[in-house]
Amino acid sequence: MTEQTEIHGVYGAPPREVAEAAAGATQFSPLVPGAERLEDLAEGALAGLTVLAPPGTVERRHVMALGLRALSPTGRLIIAAPKDKGGSRLKKELEAFGCAVNEDSRRHHRICTVRRPDAPVGLDAAIADGAPRFSEALGAWTQPGVFSWDRIDPGSALLAKTLTPLAGKGADFGAGIGVLAKAALASPKVESLLLIDSDRRAVEAARRNIDDPRATILWGDVRTAGIEPGSLDFVIMNPPFHDGGAEDKQLGQAFIRQAAGALRRSGTLWLVANRHLPYEKVLAEVFKLVTPRADTGGYKVFEARR
Ligand SMILES: C[S@@+](CC[C@H](N)C(=O)[O-])C[C@H]1O[C@@H](n2cnc3c(N)ncnc32)[C@H](O)[C@@H]1O
Repeated sequence: MTEQTEIHGVYGAPPREVAEAAAGATQFSPLVPGAERLEDLAEGALAGLTVLAPPGTVERRHVMALGLRALSPTGRLIIAAPKDKGGSRLKKELEAFGCAVNEDSRRHHRICTVRRPDAPVGLDAAIADGAPRFSEALGAWTQPGVFSWDRIDPGSALLAKTLTPLAGKGADFGAGIGVLAKAALASPKVESLLLIDSDRRAVEAARRNIDDPRATILWGDVRTAGIEPGSLDFVIMNPPFHDGGAEDKQLGQAFIRQAAGALRRSGTLWLVANRHLPYEKVLAEVFKLVTPRADTGGYKVFEARR
């Protein structure tokens, strides 16, 4: 165990000028494919951890509690967040765990530094609050922090309702906990479905939700997944429009280009998006025929043919 206390961790990508992680730190964010799991660390295994805190309260307290549990007696937890995305609550939340908090402020972020308290309060409860669970409302496994974790996204519901039965080999780009995949697999003509998501927690939930030999579920980045060009009959997606908290139209546009590259001639992309997102131009650029299939409740659905 001695060498374990040498582990320095980082969670996410804290801006350097806000909180610098130790050189060579091990990545623990579930949003970084291939990262290690904070959940699996032994108590006291971490020499230090630098965290860019997630904005959701339950998820943030879960990460704080996992970090504090894993910290060695001499280790430091440095945790930062933009003021308007949970930063102004960090100090209180850490104090509630029994921490003595040193708070700093830089570049619109609050930065708190703590050591593991001798007698931490409520770590197990916060870990349980943010853990994977079966949701009766969703009829599926889920976890705080994954996309639309406690309700079906109305856009996904609209696409699931609008889809005509699919056939052949397909993929679900940014599959989340598997809502669209389930709808696609309802068609017996689907031969195989590759689900890809960059959020490990969503992937683990999807593995529990999709019990179908036709499905392969991958923790990875759609942009670098290396799908064989021209190999798919269909792609379904409700593409992400946030990267690291900020709206990012380019991410969805990259998903559309990846789909076009992965589809065979006449292969089909089914896509749903918020009405305000500008996807029409890139769809027209990389697909032969783009047909709007639904436009309601602030969402639009397109069927696009290669
Ligand atoms: C709008 S959600 C859709 C989730 C699910 N398909 C649904 O309909 O409920 C987009 C998903 O894309 C994932 N994602 C974001 N960036 C990604 C990337 N670069 N590669 C793969 N998945 C990504 C997110 O984790 C999220 O689960």
